[in-house]
Amino acid sequence: MTDYVARLEKLEHFLIGISFLVCVLIVIVFVYFSFRYKRKRDDEKLEESSHHNTILEFTWSFIPFVIFMGSFVWGWILYSDFRREAPRDSLEIHVYGQKWNWEFVYKNGRKTSNELFVPVKRSVKLIMTSRDVIHSFYIPTFKIKQDVLPGLYTSLWFKANRKGRFEVFCTEFCGTGHSTMGAKLKVMSLEDWNNWLKTDPYKNLSLVEVGQKVFQGRCTACHNSTKEKLIGPGLAGIYNTQRELEGGMTLLADENYLRESILNPSAKISKGYANQMTPFAGLLSEEELSGLIEYIKSLN
Ligand code: CUA
Repeated sequence: MTDYVARLEKLEHFLIGISFLVCVLIVIVFVYFSFRYKRKRDDEKLEESSHHNTILEFTWSFIPFVIFMGSFVWGWILYSDFRREAPRDSLEIHVYGQKWNWEFVYKNGRKTSNELFVPVKRSVKLIMTSRDVIHSFYIPTFKIKQDVLPGLYTSLWFKANRKGRFEVFCTEFCGTGHSTMGAKLKVMSLEDWNNWLKTDPYKNLSLVEVGQKVFQGRCTACHNSTKEKLIGPGLAGIYNTQRELEGGMTLLADENYLRESILNPSAKISKGYANQMTPFAGLLSEEELSGLIEYIKSLN
C-alpha cells in the first residue's frame, strides 16, 4: 500500500457515500410523491401545481454544483500529485514489456523476469519501455498504471509503506498472451533488498537449472515444457527430431536451430504457428542461452 492509495480511498468513500445519500433521498421522495399525488378516482382532476419556485430550483441546482466541483478539485489535486515528478532520490529500475512478460533491470545490472523487488518506504521510479507492442503496467493495490510504449520511455513512481507481495497486471490488450502477462511485486526491508541485489541468481546451478530458471521467467507465457502446444509449440521432445516448417521445408532441430529460434524466431516458423515471437537477440547472456538449450534438450 502507499500513502497515495489512502488519499485516493478517501475520495472514493466520499463519492460512494454521497451517491448513496442521493439515491436514498430520491427513493424517499419518489415513494412519498407516489402516494401524495396518486389519482384516487378516474375522473379526478390533477392538482394544479405551481410552475416556478426560484429558491427551490436554485437550491437543488447549487448544492449538486458544489458537490461536483468539490469532487473535481479534490480529484484534480490527487491526480496532479500522482503525475508529479518522482522525488530526486528515487530508486530507479528499468522495466521492459515484451510479449508476454515483464523484465526488470536494476542499476547494478541484476535482472529479474516477472518479479519486481523493491525496498519498503523508499520512492521507486520505474523507467519503462516496450520491445514490441503497447503494454500497460498496472499495480491494482497501489491504484497506479501507465502505458508502456515501444521507442519511448514512460515512467511511474510509488512508495510502498508496508512489506508484502502484490500483483502486477498488463492492462493494454497486447495479443494472445495478454491475460497471462503479469508479474509479482515484492516489497522487502531495505536490508533484505540490498542483500538480495548482490546475490547471483545462477550461483551453484547446473546449466540445465539455469535454463529452467530462464524458461520459467521468460518462456512460459507461450511455451509448455511438455508436448502440449500453447501459443507456441510445446518444447518437450523436439530436440533432435525433424521439424516441419511453414513453407514445406523440414529440418533437424539441433542446437543451432534452437539457438536461432530463440534469438531470431522469424527466421524459421514451425508449421501451424504464427510469426509472433519477439526476438531474444541481445536479451540473454551466453550462459542463459546455453542453459535454455540444455533445458530444452532435457525435456522429454
Ligand atoms: Cu502486455 Cu497486455
